[in-house]
Amino acid sequence: MNQAYDPDAAPGTAHGIDGRVVIVTGAGRGIGRGIARHLAKNGATIVVAEHRARRLDDAMAELDGLGVQSLGIECDVGSREAVFAMVEATMSRFGRVDGIVNNAVSLVAAKPIEDVTEQDMDLLQRTGTNGTLWAMQAVFPHMKAQGWGRIVNVGSAAGIRGSAGTAPYNATKEAIRSLTRTAAREWAKHGIVVNCYCPASAGHHEPPPEGNLHREAWEAMYAMHPMDRDGEAEEDIAPPVLFLLSDACRFMTGETLMLDGGGQMRS
Ligand SMILES: NC(=O)c1ccc[n+]([C@@H]2O[C@H](COP(=O)([O-])OP(=O)(O)OC[C@H]3O[C@@H](n4cnc5c(N)ncnc54)[C@H](O)[C@@H]3O)[C@@H](O)[C@H]2O)c1
Repeated sequence: MNQAYDPDAAPGTAHGIDGRVVIVTGAGRGIGRGIARHLAKNGATIVVAEHRARRLDDAMAELDGLGVQSLGIECDVGSREAVFAMVEATMSRFGRVDGIVNNAVSLVAAKPIEDVTEQDMDLLQRTGTNGTLWAMQAVFPHMKAQGWGRIVNVGSAAGIRGSAGTAPYNATKEAIRSLTRTAAREWAKHGIVVNCYCPASAGHHEPPPEGNLHREAWEAMYAMHPMDRDGEAEEDIAPPVLFLLSDACRFMTGETLMLDGGGQMRS
């Protein structure tokens, strides 16, 4: 077992995250919010990094209601400076950072590839690929010093499949999977494990209108799922994410978990 983590000071089990300090970006709503809630219920100290103030407040009110230690930080993950400041604030408040879930990304309207603009690409690259990279860089020295860390990045089946209408998103999601593998390779020697997951849990979004290109990806996500349903953020996505953040995930790195009710098998 490893390293600087003291099980007496912060009791936990191999399969748990009790006492761990975990950052979840974009946890103001949706999947990130469900993950933050699940981790908090399982004893983690949660840092929510979110760029929308009202969503941040809602999430913090919920975590306060659970009676867990938490910290909310307004942060645009597309800003390297803001991301480093967020991790520094985490360190000054809790003295450690054990895990991070790089969940936040900003989206653009669906459109065919011939209409994709520089702004579309910039936004996805800045908040997706770059945001994930900055967050990994920011936590790295602290995890390295601890000799233990868990980084969890977020890809998408849309990227793997190359769904129509979401080229900038697909490209950034595949870039994130690539960064995951490189970080996993470079940082394994420091006790830092880096993995990725691709969720299917879009029930909190409005379906795109009929005829919209994004509608195809949306319908594909629901069609032919062996489990024939959408995922629930807290019940379906968060438990395997907790595993990726735990001691139990010690011999799997650079991988992508498909958390999609078997949806990937259809393609
Ligand atoms: N919903 C799905 O079925 C699905 C499928 C595949 C992948 N994903 C991925 O899972 C993650 C979460 O998806 P979701 O549907 O819950 O998303 P969502 O859009 O509902 O929530 C994203 C959250 O991140 C915040 N955010 C956006 N840009 C940010 C930024 N620059 N800085 C800080 N916070 C920011 C938003 O305010 C929001 O609270 C995303 O990475 C998404 O690509 C989701």
